[in-house]
Amino acid sequence: MSSKRMRVWIDGQVVDASEAKISVLDHGLLYGDGVFEGIRIYGHSVFRLPDHLKRFASGARAIGLTLPVDLAGIEKIVLETARAFDEDEAYLRLVVTRGEGNLGVDPTPCHNPRIFCIAACIDIFSAEQLQAGISLATVSFRRPALDALDPRVKSLNYLNNALAKQEAKLRGADEALVLNASGTIAEASVANVFVVRDGALLTPPTTDGSLDGITRDSVLRIARDLGIDAREQSLSRIDLLRADEVFLTGSGARIVPVSGLDGQPVGWDDTAPGSRPITCSIIEAYPAFTRAHGTPF
Ligand SMILES: Cc1ncc(COP(=O)(O)O)c(C=O)c1O
Repeated sequence: MSSKRMRVWIDGQVVDASEAKISVLDHGLLYGDGVFEGIRIYGHSVFRLPDHLKRFASGARAIGLTLPVDLAGIEKIVLETARAFDEDEAYLRLVVTRGEGNLGVDPTPCHNPRIFCIAACIDIFSAEQLQAGISLATVSFRRPALDALDPRVKSLNYLNNALAKQEAKLRGADEALVLNASGTIAEASVANVFVVRDGALLTPPTTDGSLDGITRDSVLRIARDLGIDAREQSLSRIDLLRADEVFLTGSGARIVPVSGLDGQPVGWDDTAPGSRPITCSIIEAYPAFTRAHGTPF
């Protein structure tokens, strides 16, 4: 991942990342207590901002964290950060932490949640990886059950995700394929999984242990507009190995073709042009979709 300069909205102003400070007693740091959003800027507009704000607010509500500002105020923070960063293409990380507390895990003494927004330029995968497709490794870490730490909440507690990614890379793969406790596919470390089989586009339901990704939803909408049979279906590893095409989606990663799983090739003749017709048609339609669903700043 490349990161150039970063700017941060914090305490009412936008500063360099080196000047943005959070207390060591913040429960976001001590316990991963908080929620966040990763948001893309395309063509000087913030992509699907109302949907990101809605997911942010519902995640905060789900963990009983009262946001320090209302949604209109948070929208202003995001747009102010985007304006100060002033890039046509960028990535925003909106974070709310439980705030400063004591050394006990109890969040109830934390009365001042902290909110900040980071702007950066990031690329999770290189142009070569996006062209050739990335490799996945099925990792030993399972996504937590819905009644443990519901993966539909985009919480700051991402150790499961980080360890999945670490294991995949230690095993020589680019990215992790994460299963749930039942052994069906949940998602990648921080991205949703899609397969194409016999012309249909399939992705696991979020109750199989994935985030309700905004890129995932955008891809489902684009596919349906293109007349593709796109739907949710529980998937196994074998479904990936016998798929015609596989790709991942996420705000950070965008749309990423997959060419291998656990050392086996995935999809038909990867190297031939036009070998991923549905993935390519979605990638081609994506820029127009982002232009139609942005908030200019
Ligand atoms: C665990 C997880 N799954 C999936 C995604 C993709 O979601 P979105 O498309 O909204 O970025 C993310 C995004 O960071 C994520 O953290």
